[in-house]
Amino acid sequence: MSHSAVAVAPEREVLALRGVSKRFGAVQALTDVDFHVGAGEVVALVGDNGAGKSTLVKVMSGVYQPDGGTISFDGRDVTIDGPAAAQDLGIATVFQDLALCDNLDVVANLFLGREIRRGGFVDEVAMETEAWRLLRSLSAKIPSVRIAIAGLSGGQRQTVAIARSLVGAPKVVMLDEPTAALGVAQTAEVLNLVERLREQGLGVILISHNMADVQQVSDRIVVLRLGRNAAEFRTAETSTADLVAAITGASDNAVTRRAERRATETETAEPATVGLHKGDPA
Ligand SMILES: Nc1ncnc2c1ncn2[C@@H]1O[C@H](COP(=O)(O)OP(=O)(O)O)[C@@H](O)[C@H]1O
Ligand SMILES: [Mg+2]
Repeated sequence: MSHSAVAVAPEREVLALRGVSKRFGAVQALTDVDFHVGAGEVVALVGDNGAGKSTLVKVMSGVYQPDGGTISFDGRDVTIDGPAAAQDLGIATVFQDLALCDNLDVVANLFLGREIRRGGFVDEVAMETEAWRLLRSLSAKIPSVRIAIAGLSGGQRQTVAIARSLVGAPKVVMLDEPTAALGVAQTAEVLNLVERLREQGLGVILISHNMADVQQVSDRIVVLRLGRNAAEFRTAETSTADLVAAITGASDNAVTRRAERRATETETAEPATVGLHKGDPA
């Protein structure tokens, strides 16, 4: 099954990992994984529990050091030796727990540890102005930036966490299960935010268990299974059944192999594999 296809033109590729491996003691969490995201592209990262999604995200966010493989950012080989290094490069992560402070207001959360200062003092006015600018850039529905996080809905909290990731003007934003805790309407709002990020030219990496979300908002889908690249799809050309098969490994079983063989025998045109086959540069 092919996972080496390049779906974005090289000049648009922002973050690329090649042959990345990561072991925890006896557990080989990632084996020879390739992954990349381009500017203005939403790539979904999917896979069953234990597939290695979180480990891959933590490698890209500098939490873990890979045992092998290379990482390039904007065409240069880089080492992401900590979360600060990721942030300096322009890789922002919205972790699943959001890590917001419930008792602090929206402005304080957005600039926690990165306060805008002027003459040694925290510049509340400048931060409030910037908070509104960031939220407007996301077309976000937040009633006030002086409201405590505790008073916001789940979708609004996700919005604040995403807005916070934009402080420092990153080029890549990773979202770990952003809709996992949300209802239907709030999920739609968060998917709108993902589209705003893409419109701003950011590379977006979306980790999700929800195939409907992934299919609605991503351009490309990368499937991990047991720590390896299992398949890669262009979202527009992919059915839910294709995805589920790749995630579970069902595409490797005797029944589907037989069906594929029969299909190619009768049609002899398109290969019936689920991998991404890409000829033209995007
Ligand atoms: N810190 C760790 N120590 C030991 N094993 C780990 C650690 N993190 C992840 N693993 C193991 O690595 C594999 C991949 O896990 P993970 O990246 O969390 O997968 P996913 O996010 O796709 O569910 C699993 O077998 C998991 O148990
Ligand atoms: Mg995980």
